[in-house]
Order: sequence, then structure tokens, then C-alpha cells
Amino acid sequence: MSENIESHLEEKRIFKPSAAFSKKSALGSFKAYKKLHAKSLKNPEKFWAGEASHLLWRRKWKKVLRWKLPFSRWFDGGQINASENCLDRHLDGPRRNKAAIIWEGEPGERRTLTYQQLHRQTCVFANVLKRNGVKKGDRVLIYMPLVPEAVIAMLACARIGAVHTVVFGGFSSESIKDRLADSGAKVVVTADAGYRRGQVVPLKQNVDHAIEGNTAVHRVIVHRRANLDIHMRDGRDVWWHQEADAVDANCPPVPLDSEHPLFILYTSGSTGKPKGILHTTGGYLVGTASTTRYIFDLREEDIYWCTADVGWITGHSYLVYGPLANGATCVLYEGAPNWPEPDRFWKIIAELGVTILYTAPTAIRAFMKWGDEWPKKHDLSSLRLLGSVGEPINPEAWMWYHKLIGGGRCPIVDTWWQTETGAILISPLPGATPLKPGTATLPFFGIDAAIVDDKGREVPHGEGGKLVIRKPWPSMLRTIHGDKARYKKQYWSEVKGSYFTGDGARRDKDGYFWIVGRIDDVLNVAGHRLGTAEVESALVGHPSVAEAAVVGKPDEIKGQGVVAFVTLREGHAASPELADQLRRHVGQAIGPIAKPDEVRFAEALPKTRSGKIMRRLLKQIASGGQISGDTTTLEDFSVLARLGNNTGE
Ligand code: PRX
Repeated sequence: MSENIESHLEEKRIFKPSAAFSKKSALGSFKAYKKLHAKSLKNPEKFWAGEASHLLWRRKWKKVLRWKLPFSRWFDGGQINASENCLDRHLDGPRRNKAAIIWEGEPGERRTLTYQQLHRQTCVFANVLKRNGVKKGDRVLIYMPLVPEAVIAMLACARIGAVHTVVFGGFSSESIKDRLADSGAKVVVTADAGYRRGQVVPLKQNVDHAIEGNTAVHRVIVHRRANLDIHMRDGRDVWWHQEADAVDANCPPVPLDSEHPLFILYTSGSTGKPKGILHTTGGYLVGTASTTRYIFDLREEDIYWCTADVGWITGHSYLVYGPLANGATCVLYEGAPNWPEPDRFWKIIAELGVTILYTAPTAIRAFMKWGDEWPKKHDLSSLRLLGSVGEPINPEAWMWYHKLIGGGRCPIVDTWWQTETGAILISPLPGATPLKPGTATLPFFGIDAAIVDDKGREVPHGEGGKLVIRKPWPSMLRTIHGDKARYKKQYWSEVKGSYFTGDGARRDKDGYFWIVGRIDDVLNVAGHRLGTAEVESALVGHPSVAEAAVVGKPDEIKGQGVVAFVTLREGHAASPELADQLRRHVGQAIGPIAKPDEVRFAEALPKTRSGKIMRRLLKQIASGGQISGDTTTLEDFSVLARLGNNTGE
């Protein structure tokens, strides 16, 4: 019986960087990457200290790293302010009047904020926070639509040393309630409402429900976004614009210890009770600023668009801190990708001249499903670099993204990382790394990634195992808020001395990392351990399939049987014949052991709000059980009801 995860799919396509792209890029060649990576691993602290020197420190650190496994202190003794690095630092030169944020609301309005304007508004709001009793170290819960004020609120907290905890505007009252209790936030920043798919989402009302009976929250600051008629409770609720009139725009950034907490962000991944991931200031900023510069090959003239919401780590690291620390122009879009029609993204790219697009495989698969005619309607020639994050991007989706969106000319950076890692750890460097569809390729500088077996021994290339990181890095989480024991157990107990990511992966003959899925989701069929990503990828390789999720269900003979949930592309209909065809297709692509025992057609798959498939729920459905455990992160409850026993008959 094989202990390690097996792999049967092999990707042969390879895309070498174009000479034109390489010439202009930071590194220029694969050789340069390899050399610098090897050097950085010999002395990661030296590498990171070099990166830290690009930032503005109020006091230089005494020691780059103090490491007492599993607790790290980076740039210890140094003082820094994240808001100062993202704003004030750009005001002395030509960036002063450069657009920091170009925002588009879902109804279609646009606003541009230059660095100077963003700085001013951040200072004003920081003074509003102070006026409302917020002090250094206090937690502030932010529950906002994707409007510039969400970014301003984050930067204002950072400016005065308050710790923000952003809760995605699509989450329910229940989620806010849990996060308030865990974080101990006493002030909430919200808006009357936000827009999503043409609907007005009543954010303030959700906050009201969440804090009913909670006496700890003494202030709710409300930004007027949608002119919704809302209830303002006397003595507790205040309007952002009225408060802003009562303060001035003078608010010097507070120098903070490098290890001062910057934010808490709750993640449940796709399982279990949300954990408050704690990130601190100096190391986080070094990690995000450095990866943004290298991986997105950022240039002064770029129009950079990361489509994530500020409610996720991607929004924190690559919408706010990383790009702003680099003085980039960032696009912010409030609404849904298919509102009013499925070409909204492509319209924005064409109109604003976006050069870098960073989005998620779940969105890419949705665009594929909606049809090629939508991107084809628009001129996407301004794009020069594409990025992907959040899940394995299956080769079919990669190729579609490459051809249809990137016009065959844009490198794709498939970036692997986690809420916990704070910044990208595994990714190609554009212009340097040859790309293969479906792999995040190789580790970033200073990152010692490896694949190990159950005993912690590195496995040979070609074999699957657990993905671990063997050396600390600056943007790593410091702990789970209020629960050191859980931090140790969750990340540092599985493989001695290493950070355990929870992901299964393998390396190919070139050493490239292929994520095969979460270790908890690995299938065990007749003694063969298979990652979910491969089987799903084989299914999506069939022309009728838009998206697939594969789970195991108990099987007396094989240990586990394979159940595939499949959504079809427009123009294809479910039928028992198609189910059979798909089973055969997987059998041919991977081998008979991976053949799904059951194929179930679904209109949609249950996903988290950030677009990850919740395989935990599908497992329960596949085994005919009741849905249990935390479902507060589920995007659309009606999906569960529709996922009956649909085999296309
Ligand atoms: O399983 C990996 C998957 O997403 C997990 C982290 O999720 P989260 O904390 O929500 O952060 C998402 C944004 C960084 C990982 O453990 N994942 C993320 N990026 C990739 C990926 N899987 C494969 N390829 C990726 N590029």
C-alpha cells in the first residue's frame, strides 16, 4: 500500500519567457532566479534585510530574526509604520499626484484618489478614530463594501497602531458576531449598504443585528454609500462624513515596533471554526512589498488590478499593502464580474488600460462557462501580465486565460500562498521562470519549501506528500489570536521543526511544485492516495465541463469510492450517457483507479465566499449524511438544497 500521494497526470506544455519581456523584467533570466534563490537560502536573513532596506524605518532593527520555534520576531528592535510607507513616502516626488486608487462602483460611477488625496483622507479618518476613542493596540472591525473608504479605514488604523480586522461584506451578522467576540473590537466601521449584483446589501443592518446585546461595542462609524434610509442609534452610531468635518487632516504616523500587530484576519479555510490569523507590521510589509515588486514585475506606469475583496488576505496583501508600498496605481471594483453582463471585467480593463490582472481560478472558470464572446468584445491589448491565486488552476483554465485574456503574450504568475503565509511563497517570476500550465512552479527567494512524507523525510521528485516550509519568513503569521496552543498544534506539530501548510503536493522532474489539494481531502481508493486536483483537472479537460469537485465516500471494498460533482458549460445538457463519458474520460486521462463511481451534475457547487469549493460539505452530501459543522462561510445556501441525487436521469 502506498503511503504517499500518487500522481498520474503529466503536463508537457512549457512556455518560456519571451525575450522582450525578460529584457525589461527585474531578473531577466531563469539562471538569475536560480542563482539568487540559492544564495537567499544560504542566508535568508541577509536577503530579507536587503528587501527591508527598500522601506522607510523610523528606527533600524537590531536583529533581523529572533527565532524560537515556532515563534518569530522579525526586524526586532526596529520601528516602522505601514501607513507611512504606503502613503507619506510617495508624497515628495512625482508620485504625489499619481493615482493611487481608481475605483469603480457597481452602478458605474468612478472615483480616482491620488496618493496625496489618499494620504489626506487617511489622516482625517485616523483623527476620526482617535476622536471616537480608538487607541494604539485597540481592535477595529471593518465591515465595508469594496469602496476606497475600506482601504482608508485600514490605513487609518495602521497609522495610529490600531489593529484592523476586516470582515468580508458578504458575510452574515452571525460571522460579525463571532469575530467581534473573538477579537474584542469595540469600534465598528461600516457603510449603510453596498451593491452586489444589482442588489443593495444592508451592511449597517447586519451590524445592528450582530451587536444586539453586545455592550462592548461603543461606537459604529457609518460611511454613506447607498443613501439607504437606516436607523442610527443615538450615542453609539455616528456618520463618517460628519465626524470628518469635526477633525483636521494633520495626523503624523505613529512609529510602531516591528512586531506590533497590524491586523487579525479570520479564516476558516474550508473547514472548521474560524481562526484569527495575526500578522504584525515590519515583516508583513517587507514580505508583501518585496513579492509585489518581483512577482508582478511592477513598473511605475502600470495599472494594476487585483480583483480580490479587502475581506480576504489577497485584498490585504496585494490590493492594499504590497502595491501601495510600491507606489502603484490600483484599480478597485465594487461589484460582481457578471453585472450587468458577463463582460464587466473586460470592459474595465479596456477602459482603464489595465496592464496587470490578478484574479482567481474560480472566476476564470466562471468566465469560461459564460462563453468566449464576452472577452472577445473588448480590446485587452493593454494587459502584459496575468496572475492567479486561491486554488490550483487546472491546465484547461490556464490555457483559456493565457489565450483568450492574455492574447498568448502575457506570462501567468500562478501564485501559491495562504492567509497564514501573508505573502506569496511559491510562484513563477515573470520573465525568468519557464511556465507550465497548472503549477505555481518554484519558491520565492528566502523560502525553503519541501515535500515530505509522514515521517518528515523529503520525498523524491515525482512522489506526492505534505507541503512544508522549513525556514521562517518575515510575513508569516505570528499566532492565532488568543490561542497559542492551537497555533502550535495546527501548524507546527505535524512535521517536526517545519511549518505544515495543510496542502498535498508533488514536485515534477524540474522541481516544480504541483498542489494536489488539501491533505484532508486526499482520496484513498483501494490503497491508492489521489489528490483531488488531478481528478478535477481531468474532468475539466472534457469540453462539456465547466467546473468539477471530487470527494471520497465510504466504500466497503475500496475504502473510498470517488464521487464527482460537475457543472456543465453553457450549451451542454446532463445525461446518463454524458456521466458515463466523463467516467471513461477520467479513466483514460489518469487511470482506472481514478474513475468516478458516481458523477452528479449540479447547477453550482457550494463555495466559500472567496470562491473555494467546500469539499467538506460535498463529502457529507456524497455519503448521504446531514450537513454539519460551520457553514457561515458558505456563499449560497440554495446550492446545498439543489445538490440532491442528480445523476442526469
Ligand atoms: O490550498 C491552497 C490554496 O488555498 C489555500 C489558502 O487559502 P487562503 O488562506 O484562503 O488564501 C487564499 C489566498 C492566498 C492554500 O493552502 N491555494 C492558494 N493559492 C493556490 C492554492 N492552491 C494551488 N495553487 C495556488 N496558486
